[in-house]
Amino acid sequence: MFHSACQNLGMFPDTGQAPAQSMRLHEVKELFQIVEKKKLNDAVVMVRIAAPLIAKKVLPGQFIIFRLDEFGERVPLTVADYDREGGTITLIFQIAGETTRQFSQLEAGDTILDLVGPLGVPTELPEGTKSVCVIGGGVGCAIAYPQAKHLHSLGLEVDTIVGFRNKDIVILEDEFRACSDNLYLCTDDGSYGRKGLVTEALKELIDAGNQYDEVFAIGPMVMMKFVSKTTEPYGIPTTVSMSPIMIDGTGMCGGCRLTVGGETKFACVDGPDFDGDLVDFDEAMARGTMYRPFEAKAREKACNLFKTEEAK
Ligand code: FES
Repeated sequence: MFHSACQNLGMFPDTGQAPAQSMRLHEVKELFQIVEKKKLNDAVVMVRIAAPLIAKKVLPGQFIIFRLDEFGERVPLTVADYDREGGTITLIFQIAGETTRQFSQLEAGDTILDLVGPLGVPTELPEGTKSVCVIGGGVGCAIAYPQAKHLHSLGLEVDTIVGFRNKDIVILEDEFRACSDNLYLCTDDGSYGRKGLVTEALKELIDAGNQYDEVFAIGPMVMMKFVSKTTEPYGIPTTVSMSPIMIDGTGMCGGCRLTVGGETKFACVDGPDFDGDLVDFDEAMARGTMYRPFEAKAREKACNLFKTEEAK
């Protein structure tokens, strides 16, 4: 345990002391090297990273926090896949801000400074579950996929509904097909699959007599809110994966707090999975927009820095 924490934090496992900077970078280079990188669409990137200790322990639903360099912000990402024998974890992220833009420019062979994890509570499956519906929206499919794969590997019947704005941003279709009994692909504009929202497809399937013991919804908060509203009248338990702003990832900063069933919960230590019927989505969505002006400023600053470097 101590060994794992030390390596994740870039410390010497034998002494627990932080090594000198040059040694530390050398240590980290060996641990957190990108071994594969693939663009899944114009805005979504997949990276496979060498992180043997995390790969050994991580379970579906858990996440890591990465930092690109010593000046970088801490960014949480759910682990999309892992290879215990190969010692790698797979991360899929959307280029949404300055840090993810920089991350997207790294290539196989490059390294990142920190990876802390696995964090959060693994997804729990109620006893006796036989049939599930996994719903993914947009880049949330990166998290829905390992869920579907895991549930399928347990021998459950897995129907999957995935939704995208249009055909150009569809990701992981073949992977979903391989681990689903039935895959329903929706696009908002009808350019691929069926036209419409994932909630419409879900309601149709339930009304047609499909029985689900549990629904898992992963994607934009508004989608998870309306999936929960869709299943509620049918009494189907719905688990949602919340991704609020996180800072420390250990329950100390309060950045990721949510109201669930009238109680304050921290997504990083109590989640990220919660009962969708109990989550106060409106509050979570309002908190999620709080830092947009800061993000815009960070982007502008990075842009100006880049122009200055170019002009030199
Ligand atoms: Fe700080 Fe959860 S990220 S309490």
